[in-house]
Amino acid sequence: MEEDIESKGGLPLIGDPAPEFEAVTTFGTLRLEDYRGSWLILFSHPADFTPVCTTEFIAFTEIYEELKKRNAELLGLSVDSVSSHIAWVRNIEEKLGIKIPFPIIADLNREVASKYGMIHPGESRTETVRCVFIIDPEGILRAMLYYPLTNGRNMDEILRLLDAMQTSDEHKVATPANWRPGDKVVVPPPNTQEMAEERMKEGYECVDWYLCKKDL
Ligand code: BEZ
Repeated sequence: MEEDIESKGGLPLIGDPAPEFEAVTTFGTLRLEDYRGSWLILFSHPADFTPVCTTEFIAFTEIYEELKKRNAELLGLSVDSVSSHIAWVRNIEEKLGIKIPFPIIADLNREVASKYGMIHPGESRTETVRCVFIIDPEGILRAMLYYPLTNGRNMDEILRLLDAMQTSDEHKVATPANWRPGDKVVVPPPNTQEMAEERMKEGYECVDWYLCKKDL
Protein backbone atom coordinates (compact mmCIF):
# COMPACT_ATOMS: atom_id res chain seq x y z
CA MET A 1 0.00 0.00 0.00
CA GLU A 2 2.79 2.38 0.96
CA GLU A 3 4.54 1.60 -2.33
CA ASP A 4 1.32 2.29 -4.24
CA ILE A 5 1.05 5.75 -2.71
CA GLU A 6 4.67 6.53 -3.48
CA SER A 7 4.56 5.21 -7.04
CA LYS A 8 1.55 7.40 -7.87
CA GLY A 9 3.76 10.40 -7.33
CA GLY A 10 6.14 12.05 -9.71
CA LEU A 11 7.69 15.44 -9.80
CA PRO A 12 5.49 18.08 -11.37
CA LEU A 13 7.22 20.15 -14.04
CA ILE A 14 7.87 23.86 -14.29
CA GLY A 15 5.74 25.38 -17.05
CA ASP A 16 2.95 22.80 -16.72
CA PRO A 17 -0.44 23.44 -15.11
CA ALA A 18 -0.01 22.78 -11.38
CA PRO A 19 -1.73 19.55 -10.27
CA GLU A 20 -5.34 20.16 -9.24
CA PHE A 21 -6.35 19.41 -5.66
CA GLU A 22 -9.27 19.65 -3.29
CA ALA A 23 -8.09 19.38 0.30
CA VAL A 24 -9.18 19.65 3.92
CA THR A 25 -7.39 22.58 5.55
CA THR A 26 -7.46 24.56 8.78
CA PHE A 27 -9.61 27.12 6.88
CA GLY A 28 -12.05 24.52 5.47
CA THR A 29 -11.95 22.75 2.10
CA LEU A 30 -9.76 24.50 -0.48
CA ARG A 31 -9.06 23.78 -4.14
CA LEU A 32 -6.27 24.95 -6.42
CA GLU A 33 -8.85 26.82 -8.48
CA ASP A 34 -9.72 28.95 -5.41
CA TYR A 35 -6.38 30.67 -6.01
CA ARG A 36 -7.00 31.63 -9.66
CA GLY A 37 -6.02 35.28 -10.09
CA SER A 38 -3.43 35.19 -7.27
CA TRP A 39 0.05 33.79 -7.01
CA LEU A 40 0.08 30.78 -4.70
CA ILE A 41 3.03 29.65 -2.57
CA LEU A 42 2.21 26.06 -1.68
CA PHE A 43 4.72 24.65 0.78
CA SER A 44 5.09 21.43 2.73
CA HIS A 45 6.69 20.80 6.10
CA PRO A 46 7.62 17.42 7.63
CA ALA A 47 5.53 17.46 10.78
CA ASP A 48 3.64 19.61 13.27
CA PHE A 49 5.17 20.29 16.71
CA THR A 50 8.75 20.05 15.42
CA PRO A 51 11.33 22.77 16.03
CA VAL A 52 12.59 23.68 12.55
CA CYS A 53 9.03 23.68 11.18
CA THR A 54 7.94 25.98 13.98
CA THR A 55 10.69 28.47 13.11
CA GLU A 56 9.60 28.29 9.47
CA PHE A 57 5.96 28.95 10.32
CA ILE A 58 7.03 32.02 12.27
CA ALA A 59 9.19 33.14 9.33
CA PHE A 60 6.39 32.55 6.78
CA THR A 61 4.10 34.62 9.00
CA GLU A 62 6.72 37.41 9.05
CA ILE A 63 6.70 37.65 5.22
CA TYR A 64 2.94 37.19 4.92
CA GLU A 65 2.18 40.92 4.52
CA GLU A 66 4.95 41.30 1.92
CA LEU A 67 3.48 38.39 -0.02
CA LYS A 68 0.01 39.95 0.09
CA LYS A 69 1.46 43.17 -1.39
CA ARG A 70 2.65 41.00 -4.29
CA ASN A 71 -0.78 39.35 -4.78
CA ALA A 72 0.55 36.08 -3.34
CA GLU A 73 -1.13 33.67 -0.91
CA LEU A 74 0.46 31.06 1.33
CA LEU A 75 -0.82 27.50 1.78
CA GLY A 76 0.98 24.99 4.02
CA LEU A 77 0.77 21.20 3.95
CA SER A 78 1.83 18.19 5.96
CA VAL A 79 0.52 14.66 6.36
CA ASP A 80 -0.75 15.50 9.88
CA SER A 81 -4.44 15.73 10.75
CA VAL A 82 -6.40 18.97 10.85
CA SER A 83 -6.73 18.52 14.65
CA SER A 84 -2.95 18.35 14.95
CA HIS A 85 -2.56 21.49 12.78
CA ILE A 86 -5.12 23.35 14.91
CA ALA A 87 -3.42 22.29 18.16
CA TRP A 88 0.00 23.33 16.81
CA VAL A 89 -1.04 26.78 15.54
CA ARG A 90 -2.85 27.38 18.86
CA ASN A 91 0.32 26.38 20.69
CA ILE A 92 2.43 28.76 18.58
CA GLU A 93 0.01 31.57 19.39
CA GLU A 94 -0.04 30.72 23.10
CA LYS A 95 3.72 30.27 23.52
CA LEU A 96 5.05 32.80 21.00
CA GLY A 97 2.18 35.26 20.49
CA ILE A 98 2.18 34.65 16.73
CA LYS A 99 -1.09 33.93 14.93
CA ILE A 100 -0.59 31.84 11.80
CA PRO A 101 -2.56 33.74 9.13
CA PHE A 102 -2.65 31.14 6.35
CA PRO A 103 -4.35 27.73 5.92
CA ILE A 104 -2.60 24.36 6.25
CA ILE A 105 -3.65 21.26 4.29
CA ALA A 106 -4.17 18.09 6.35
CA ASP A 107 -2.97 15.59 3.75
CA LEU A 108 -3.51 12.44 5.80
CA ASN A 109 -3.92 10.21 2.73
CA ARG A 110 -0.94 11.90 0.97
CA GLU A 111 -3.02 12.66 -2.08
CA VAL A 112 -1.67 16.18 -2.64
CA ALA A 113 1.84 15.17 -1.50
CA SER A 114 1.90 12.42 -4.15
CA LYS A 115 0.70 14.70 -6.95
CA TYR A 116 3.39 17.25 -6.14
CA GLY A 117 6.22 14.78 -5.44
CA MET A 118 6.59 15.99 -1.86
CA ILE A 119 7.60 12.63 -0.34
CA HIS A 120 11.19 11.67 -1.07
CA PRO A 121 11.57 8.17 0.41
CA GLY A 122 15.36 8.40 0.67
CA GLU A 123 14.87 11.33 3.07
CA SER A 124 11.71 10.11 4.81
CA ARG A 125 9.17 7.46 3.85
CA THR A 126 6.47 9.03 6.01
CA GLU A 127 6.94 12.81 5.99
CA THR A 128 6.95 15.43 3.28
CA VAL A 129 10.26 17.17 2.66
CA ARG A 130 10.41 20.97 2.73
CA CYS A 131 9.01 21.91 -0.69
CA VAL A 132 7.97 25.28 -2.08
CA PHE A 133 5.86 25.50 -5.25
CA ILE A 134 5.22 28.91 -6.75
CA ILE A 135 2.08 28.84 -8.90
CA ASP A 136 1.08 31.84 -11.01
CA PRO A 137 -2.39 33.45 -11.26
CA GLU A 138 -3.20 31.24 -14.30
CA GLY A 139 -2.41 28.07 -12.35
CA ILE A 140 0.95 27.38 -14.03
CA LEU A 141 3.73 25.95 -11.88
CA ARG A 142 6.51 28.49 -12.18
CA ALA A 143 9.16 27.45 -9.64
CA MET A 144 9.99 24.66 -7.20
CA LEU A 145 12.37 24.57 -4.25
CA TYR A 146 13.18 21.40 -2.29
CA TYR A 147 14.96 21.34 1.06
CA PRO A 148 15.85 18.40 3.33
CA LEU A 149 14.23 17.76 6.71
CA THR A 150 17.13 19.17 8.70
CA ASN A 151 17.32 22.68 7.21
CA GLY A 152 14.85 25.53 7.30
CA ARG A 153 14.08 27.61 4.22
CA ASN A 154 15.22 31.16 3.44
CA MET A 155 12.23 33.50 3.25
CA ASP A 156 14.29 36.25 1.56
CA GLU A 157 14.90 33.88 -1.34
CA ILE A 158 11.21 33.08 -1.70
CA LEU A 159 10.35 36.80 -1.83
CA ARG A 160 13.31 37.52 -4.12
CA LEU A 161 12.31 34.80 -6.55
CA LEU A 162 8.70 35.99 -6.60
CA ASP A 163 9.88 39.56 -7.26
CA ALA A 164 12.16 38.29 -10.03
CA MET A 165 9.43 36.26 -11.74
CA GLN A 166 6.91 39.09 -11.53
CA THR A 167 9.52 41.47 -12.99
CA SER A 168 10.28 39.01 -15.81
CA ASP A 169 6.57 38.70 -16.64
CA GLU A 170 5.90 42.42 -16.57
CA HIS A 171 8.98 43.62 -18.47
CA LYS A 172 9.85 40.55 -20.61
CA VAL A 173 13.37 40.40 -19.20
CA ALA A 174 15.48 37.89 -17.30
CA THR A 175 17.28 38.51 -14.02
CA PRO A 176 20.93 37.73 -13.25
CA ALA A 177 22.34 35.78 -10.31
CA ASN A 178 21.62 37.36 -6.94
CA TRP A 179 19.32 39.95 -8.56
CA ARG A 180 17.41 42.24 -6.23
CA PRO A 181 14.67 44.74 -7.13
CA GLY A 182 16.35 47.91 -8.42
CA ASP A 183 19.31 46.03 -9.94
CA LYS A 184 19.90 45.94 -13.69
CA VAL A 185 18.04 43.19 -15.57
CA VAL A 186 19.24 40.93 -18.39
CA VAL A 187 18.01 41.60 -21.91
CA PRO A 188 16.84 38.23 -23.34
CA PRO A 189 19.32 36.77 -25.86
CA PRO A 190 18.75 37.72 -29.52
CA ASN A 191 17.22 35.14 -31.89
CA THR A 192 18.75 36.44 -35.11
CA GLN A 193 22.03 37.94 -36.27
CA GLU A 194 20.20 41.17 -37.11
CA MET A 195 18.82 41.39 -33.56
CA ALA A 196 22.34 40.75 -32.21
CA GLU A 197 23.69 43.67 -34.25
CA GLU A 198 20.78 45.95 -33.37
CA ARG A 199 21.10 45.41 -29.64
CA MET A 200 24.70 46.66 -29.67
CA LYS A 201 23.29 50.08 -30.72
CA GLU A 202 20.59 50.21 -28.02
CA GLY A 203 22.74 51.74 -25.30
CA TYR A 204 22.56 48.65 -23.12
CA GLU A 205 25.45 47.73 -20.84
CA CYS A 206 26.87 44.86 -22.95
CA VAL A 207 29.80 42.55 -22.25
CA ASP A 208 29.14 41.21 -25.73
CA TRP A 209 26.09 40.60 -27.97
CA TYR A 210 24.78 37.74 -25.78
CA LEU A 211 25.16 39.40 -22.37
CA CYS A 212 23.48 42.77 -22.12
CA LYS A 213 21.93 44.40 -19.07
CA LYS A 214 19.69 47.43 -18.72
CA ASP A 215 17.90 49.46 -16.07
CA LEU A 216 14.17 49.11 -15.89
C1 BEZ B 1 12.00 19.91 12.51
O1 BEZ B 1 11.13 20.60 12.02
O2 BEZ B 1 12.66 20.29 13.47
C2 BEZ B 1 12.31 18.57 11.94
C3 BEZ B 1 11.30 17.82 11.37
C4 BEZ B 1 11.59 16.58 10.86
C5 BEZ B 1 12.89 16.11 10.91
C6 BEZ B 1 13.90 16.89 11.45
C7 BEZ B 1 13.61 18.13 11.98
